[in-house]
Amino acid sequence: MVNEAGPIGVFDSGYGGLTILRQIRKEMPQYDYLYLGDNARTPYGERSFEVVYEFTRQAVRYLFGQGCHLVILACNTASAKALRTIQHVDLQRIDPKRRVLGVIRPTVEVVGNISKTRHVGIMATDGTIRSKTYELEIEKMSPDIQVTGEACPMWVPLVENDEYDSPGADYFVKKHIDNLLSRDPLIDSVILGCTHYPLLLGKIRQYMPPGVHIIEQGGYVATSLKDYLGRHPEMEKRITQGGSVRFLTTERAEAFRSKAVVFMEEAKLDASQQLAAERVFLE
Ligand code: DGL
Repeated sequence: MVNEAGPIGVFDSGYGGLTILRQIRKEMPQYDYLYLGDNARTPYGERSFEVVYEFTRQAVRYLFGQGCHLVILACNTASAKALRTIQHVDLQRIDPKRRVLGVIRPTVEVVGNISKTRHVGIMATDGTIRSKTYELEIEKMSPDIQVTGEACPMWVPLVENDEYDSPGADYFVKKHIDNLLSRDPLIDSVILGCTHYPLLLGKIRQYMPPGVHIIEQGGYVATSLKDYLGRHPEMEKRITQGGSVRFLTTERAEAFRSKAVVFMEEAKLDASQQLAAERVFLE
């Protein structure tokens, strides 16, 4: 494994993590980033604990092998199902000095300050909802908050298949918002607990009652990472500062490139250095 300084690794089952990477780069453009999307095996949302753990572990090892000392699981499903075991078991074996961080904790940290009614909703993949990770984490930080989870199994496929803006998406977006709010009408804050969901934000806003606060995680994850690096100069020293971003995918590079433009809103930026993707195989 490479011991010199390297980029920050960012991992997702597919494209969703790009919404997190975009916010992290906005906050800290100075670092180098290496994004890995497991597009060949996405979605992870309905997969078992063992499978999500194994796929995530492979991805983390791959990114470590590419010189990353710090890897962000920019995927709620992987953060819910694999993060703890990787932190407590795998890191000890691979290299206790490397770090893997998730996206759930930084999101949960802000909920207590946002909800007034102390009734919070989570919209996420089936795997994240069934893991109850959000409930457990919120319970630790704000035990007075009542949490209701709603699995939205169609939302990731809508995004992955470019249907997030189509009339067909309206049905599924409205259905799950209505389900959630009918189960607990006192909910005043809803966490979008899946990194794909920001692409559905236009429709989510349309069907969410105006008084309900929609919590998007990208900005909070970025602020929390910045804070983490401020508190851990030994890790910060091990990140290279060339301002670059490289993309790896386990599926076709060209398909990744064209999709990534949408997720990263990179079309607005200088396209020259951006969005060349490279295919890799995980094992
Ligand atoms: N982006 C992932 C998340 O945040 C979910 C996508 C999937 O189901 O693979 O949970």
